[in-house]
Amino acid sequence: MGTDDRATGTAGHRPPADGGRPREVGGEAAEDTEEALAIRSRVTLRINGRAHSLTVDHRATLLDVLREDLDLTGAKKGCDHGQCGACTVLVDGRRANSCLLPAVAQDDREIVTVEGLAGSEGDPDALHPLQRAFLDRDAFQCGYCTPGQLCSAIGMLAEAEAGHPSAATPPQELCTHPNGPAALGRDEIRERLSGNLCRCGAYPHIVSAVEDVIR
Ligand code: FES
Ligand code: FES
Repeated sequence: MGTDDRATGTAGHRPPADGGRPREVGGEAAEDTEEALAIRSRVTLRINGRAHSLTVDHRATLLDVLREDLDLTGAKKGCDHGQCGACTVLVDGRRANSCLLPAVAQDDREIVTVEGLAGSEGDPDALHPLQRAFLDRDAFQCGYCTPGQLCSAIGMLAEAEAGHPSAATPPQELCTHPNGPAALGRDEIRERLSGNLCRCGAYPHIVSAVEDVIR
């Protein structure tokens, strides 16, 4: 039986048929004329280890370029206002709401979407440990928020490792925990993932899945 693509966040995603070689997108549709470049610019977006050279409208968000131009539909559009976290991706290792990021400003940045998580730990066929934990813990229902939850949790774990404070752990307590800069109990995980909403209310299982990967 195949893996549940609600947990991997890759429902509807087609793997590239060309084996991942750099892509030119939008070249013919948007010629680099002076007039066109007044509102559009050539950029290189580095997504999941692959460079995409394309022309983007200065008003386009990273989320829309991912979904509409690059066929990477894992990141979801929930609110389109930075409120729900469904569109979360990693930019240079930091989590970010892609609905708030101008695509033109992401030139040469390293972007990871949910499609890039599987295989990222060395084995190209293996799910990311957090994706596996989401499956094991049944940490989703409809799965719409799941790609954002996964990317956000991975970014959050790196932040905690680096000692970033949160409302649940005052800065003065960060270095006093025996197991790291920020001990990730359930309250701490909830607080640090509070920017990612789940309309299905799968929160208890999401927290358990995150706990599984930090044990
Ligand atoms: S769609 Fe980006 S935060 Fe909701
Ligand atoms: S699993 Fe449905 S919104 Fe979270």
